[in-house]
This record gives sequence, C-alpha cells and structure tokens, in this order.
Amino acid sequence: MNQNDNASEGTNQSQTVLSAAQPTGQLTLGNYLGALRHWVPLQDQYANSLYCIVDLHALTVRQDPQELRQRVMELAAIYLACGIDPQRSTIFIQSHVPAHSELNWLLSTFTQMGELERMTQFKEKAQRHKTNINAGLFSYPVLMAADILLYDAHKVPVGEDQKQHLELARDIATRVNGVYGKIFQVPDPLIAKEAARVKDLQDPTKKMSKSAPSELAKIMLLDEPAKILKKFKKAVTDSEGVIRYDEQNQPGVANLLTIFRACTGQSEEEALAHFSHNMYGKLKVETGEAVIAALDPVRTRYQELMDEPGYLAGVLKEGAVQARARAEGVMGRFQEALGLTLDGTRFGDA
Ligand code: AMP
Ligand code: TRP
Repeated sequence: MNQNDNASEGTNQSQTVLSAAQPTGQLTLGNYLGALRHWVPLQDQYANSLYCIVDLHALTVRQDPQELRQRVMELAAIYLACGIDPQRSTIFIQSHVPAHSELNWLLSTFTQMGELERMTQFKEKAQRHKTNINAGLFSYPVLMAADILLYDAHKVPVGEDQKQHLELARDIATRVNGVYGKIFQVPDPLIAKEAARVKDLQDPTKKMSKSAPSELAKIMLLDEPAKILKKFKKAVTDSEGVIRYDEQNQPGVANLLTIFRACTGQSEEEALAHFSHNMYGKLKVETGEAVIAALDPVRTRYQELMDEPGYLAGVLKEGAVQARARAEGVMGRFQEALGLTLDGTRFGDA
C-alpha cells in the first residue's frame, strides 16, 4: 500500500482526492498539521478534489441540532480559511447527498462483523462512550468507505489514525469488485510523513484529540496567540534536560520538535542544531511562536468568512449539487450490478 505516498510526487491529472472531517467542535492543531494543511496543495496536483463535512458521522454521539448546524458552518469556514478553494474543490455536507446513506447500507452487507470488531477506534470509543455504544458507532467505518467509494476517489489524505479505516474501505471495494467486476476505484491513503500524529501536550503518549478533557492538552485552530503560548509553556516534557529526538524515552520533547518542524519547515538536523545548547524553555516558547505564526492567517480569514454566512451557504449549496451529480455514476453502476434496477432505472427516477 502507498501509505507513505508523498503528495508532491508527480501530478495525477486524471485522479480524484477526497477527504473529510467531523463537525464536532473546533479542530485541533493535530487536525491541521496531520490533515487539512496537506489538502491545499493537492488541489493543484489532482484533477478533482472533494472535501466533505461528515455530519452523519457526528451523529454517533448525541448532538444538539442548533449546535450541529453552527459547527457545520464553522467547519466550512475552516476549510476555506485553510486554503481549500471552492473554485477548484467540491466542498459539501455529507447528509445533503443522500447517496452516502444508501451506499452505506449496501456496503454494510459486504462487511463482516469481525472486521468492524477489530477497529481500534471503535474499541477506544466504546470504552469512552459506555452509555451509548450505538450501532452507528460500530458501523462508522462502513459509512466512511461509502464517502470514499461513492466518488471513485483514488487518494484519501488522512492522519495515521485513519489508516485502518482506509484499509477496510479498500478491502470492501476489492471484495465487491471480485464479485461484480470493476464497480469501485480501490482508494489509497495519503499519509504525510511529517506530523502524521501530533501528540497531546499533557500526555505525549496519546494523540492530540478534540475530545481531550484538559484544555492544556490541545491547541485549537482558533486559539488566541497568548493562549497558544501558555499551553506550550505548560507542555509536559521530562527530566532528561537534553533536546534530542527520542520518541520512546522523550515523547514530549519529540512532539514539540515535530510541531516546530512542521510549522517552520526545518529538517530534523536543522531543528536539533538550532536548539543544541538550549533548555526546554526555549523549545517550548519557540514552538509556540511557530504555531502562532502558522495559525494566524487561518484565524484571520476564518473570522472574515464567519461574517459572510451567505457566501458560505452558497459554496455548500454548489458543492452539494456537484457531489450529487458525481455520485450518480457509481450508484447507478452498483445498483445495476446488485439487481436493484429494472430495465436500467428505478421507479420514481427522473
Ligand atoms: P477527526 O477530527 O477525527 O474528524 O479527524 C480529521 C482528520 O485529522 C483525520 O484525517 C485525522 O487523521 C486527522 N487527525 C486528527 N487528529 C490528529 C493528530 N493528533 N495528528 C495528526 N492528524 C490528526
Ligand atoms: N473518520 C474520519 C476521521 O475521524 C472522518 C472521515 C469520514 C473521513 N469520512 C471520511 C476521512 C472519508 C476521509 C475520507 O477523521
């Protein structure tokens, strides 16, 4: 598998990229460095790019309807503020393209319980949400496979935590193709080498997650500069007192170095040389400053966009129209193969 396929290698002018994020609370620095930041250059490297706001996935946890609506608009503004360009990419809301749900059902009949039981994210979430382990949480990766297979996506840029879900999408696609001939494009993950897993600032053995209970553990994309600096100053390190890259024994320092490098573009050697005679204090402050510089334009643009709700709605409406049209090809092919059509159509189709 091309898990380390670098997005900058070669142009792929006939291929499609697709990715998505859940509209559940603000995004973290991990989402930005591990995922969103990499989506921007792909717009120039691939013929088609689609970026989805997966509101149906968010429903695996009970949501307040008014808040969900707000979160969807915020995420759309974040996509644009990070540099996703509606002229070059299709930006849309998952539930506004009903084919996602339909394909989800069809694919679930090609997915084994055992495959879903093995998903580490399900196991983790089931631990956390003890009182609401709903069937949607269990079949979450099937809906994700539907998101991807619906558009014949070749490449799916995600953080490392999504690799297992991507493998399942590939297995489902291959299985269906094995029975019916080529129905689906088998997607490859695009996992950036840099910052694929940004860690929690308070417990650097865990990934930085929106759901971490401690505010100090995570940097939110829209945090004010002073807050960012404060969180970095309080980041957990160790008592070794030497700045080197050793993920095993010094996970906190390694995480700060990773973040510093991702935000400054420095190589490992450059960063280590830069901090060679320093203490952790300087590493923390300079990492905080590098993050502030990287996020500043995003925050400014986000605020401008949130003042233009009409514009955002227009982008999402156009995106939904484009996505619905694109989804028809795959759905038609699959329905036909399964025997769900009569004389090539369905009653009620236009
Ligand atoms: P989510 O917030 O779970 O909807 O994730 C959206 C995207 O961000 C996915 O591609 C994740 O792999 C990526 N992502 C989430 N957390 C991190 C992290 N701590 N480091 C790197 N990538 C991440
Ligand atoms: N499961 C992904 C996450 O939590 C979000 C997601 C849903 C996704 N559908 C997708 C990512 C399709 C890429 C492609 O990060």
